[in-house]
Amino acid sequence: MIPFAKNALLLAPMVGITNRAFRTLLDELGGPDYAFTEMASAEAFSSHAQYEAVYTDARPSPRATSVQFYARSAAAMAAACKEILSRAALEAPAGIDINFGCSAPHIRKSGGGSAWSSNPAGAAELVAAARSAWPGTLSAKIRMGPDDDYDRFLSFCSRIAEAGLDFLSVHPRTDGQKLRRQPQHEVTLRLAGDLSIPIVANGDITDRGKALALLGEKGAYAVMIGREAVRRPWIFQRLRAELSGAQAGAAVDSLAIDRLAVGLRFLELVGSLLPEAWQLETCRRFFSYYTETMSFAHHIKYKLMNSPSLETMGGVLTEYFEQVPEDRMIFE
Ligand SMILES: Cc1cc2nc3c(=O)[nH]c(=O)nc-3n(C[C@H](O)[C@H](O)[C@H](O)COP(=O)(O)O)c2cc1C
Repeated sequence: MIPFAKNALLLAPMVGITNRAFRTLLDELGGPDYAFTEMASAEAFSSHAQYEAVYTDARPSPRATSVQFYARSAAAMAAACKEILSRAALEAPAGIDINFGCSAPHIRKSGGGSAWSSNPAGAAELVAAARSAWPGTLSAKIRMGPDDDYDRFLSFCSRIAEAGLDFLSVHPRTDGQKLRRQPQHEVTLRLAGDLSIPIVANGDITDRGKALALLGEKGAYAVMIGREAVRRPWIFQRLRAELSGAQAGAAVDSLAIDRLAVGLRFLELVGSLLPEAWQLETCRRFFSYYTETMSFAHHIKYKLMNSPSLETMGGVLTEYFEQVPEDRMIFE
């Protein structure tokens, strides 16, 4: 079951960012068609470790959100799926997403994320265990693995797809490639032709041209946006209008955005929706991307990163836009 339509716009999972506060902000700005929580450890979730309920909180739109888990065993994944099932119906997520892509050393060392790429049989068992335990949408997200050997990658993806996935999100960089390197989208497009399940394309999708190059009849089923949604949280509304405008051949009205109001609203949402222990770090992560396109990005970022409270951050932001008023309203 795929819970979104062809050409949908998805929000990528991002640790420390795609929590309930950020997803609420996006929804208020015309949000994605479908979203993912940040990754959580299946083991920690099942053992009710501190904050696991917050990592996996699928609100404000649980019926359009998947909770992402990484796991080091099929049993742990199945246990987490069962635990999620017991959530009150209104807050139950539409889907579970399995992280096969994270190459961060501590995740690989724990046997999760991209560590599975060397064990395709085990990865397929993990998917099958989740499939038997979870009746909702089941997906996975993957990078290319240790190298750019397409046959190895296709074989891995086919095995996990056949074990019961509804769709697969592909971030076409190898484990060692930093986000500065170009994603190999030709691999995603090839995979879309070779696999029997829908492919979601991810990696550096920042505008209509990039999205259109990946969509299309033989291309990806949908696109997934990560960092650009933090730099421009209104991007989904903008892209949606542009993509339907492109189909109709019509010009699209520009969108007026007040960057101060968006920043202050985020601070408010974080203050009211997240545990206190998360608040400062969440805002630091958000603002480190959000300020990137501002005229004096380095200056404002430095001041925000060194602010001791959300209140100070609000003051710093307000003062910045008083000093640089031309940065406040943008028309896209
Ligand atoms: C700060 C940050 C945190 C991330 N956390 C996750 C995560 O929890 N799970 C995951 O599958 N990918 C994670 N990723 C990878 C993104 O989902 C995405 O694949 C990557 O950023 C490329 O997409 P983009 O160019 O649209 O940002 C993270 C990326 C960033 C920058």
